[in-house]
Amino acid sequence: MKHSMQKLTVGIIIYSGTGKTLALAEQLKSNLDEQFDVVIDQITVKEPKPFQSPEVTFSHAPDITAYDVLVFGAPVWAFQLTHVMKKYLHQLPNIEGKPVGFYVMQGLPFHCLGGNRAMRTMVKLTQGLQRYECAGIVSEKGRKHNQKFNKVITNLTDFVTKRALL
Ligand SMILES: Cc1cc2nc3c(=O)[nH]c(=O)nc-3n(C[C@H](O)[C@H](O)[C@H](O)COP(=O)(O)O)c2cc1C
Repeated sequence: MKHSMQKLTVGIIIYSGTGKTLALAEQLKSNLDEQFDVVIDQITVKEPKPFQSPEVTFSHAPDITAYDVLVFGAPVWAFQLTHVMKKYLHQLPNIEGKPVGFYVMQGLPFHCLGGNRAMRTMVKLTQGLQRYECAGIVSEKGRKHNQKFNKVITNLTDFVTKRALL
């Protein structure tokens, strides 16, 4: 149990190949910084071109044990969740009991072109969670890209501030 004066810690665990997933994480962090200790903890791999390597080796695989609340974010690659995030989630210890939010980034405008599937995979690989929020899928080329980007951040900010504190 944390002392009431101590801030809860939020781990935003992401993999970002070209910076889009990271950009959302940074905005989310700045929304939450006042109330929480927020860390953007990036998964990194040794391969310079991981999309060309079916097998990847982590150079940093975030340790989630110290975080009270988690947010996972990653891009869609080849109509599904990037294999980097899949591998990372596969090796996680049980995170039951922690509130978790998810978001997905994709290039194509329709969620049926990978986003929906990627989101389902993230939820499935962390199954057992009782408090989670699928905050949304952001398409770079979607007509309402900016609104969606901001909506996902609002959903996650609300989730962390309201439900996570229950
Ligand atoms: C190897 C590769 C495969 C991709 N496949 C898809 C795809 O199937 N569907 C899609 O909508 N976007 C796809 N994209 C686009 C990315 O999902 C999109 O650019 C995303 O915003 C990248 O996030 P990041 O900058 O955090 O890596 C792909 C990108 C890469 C590099």
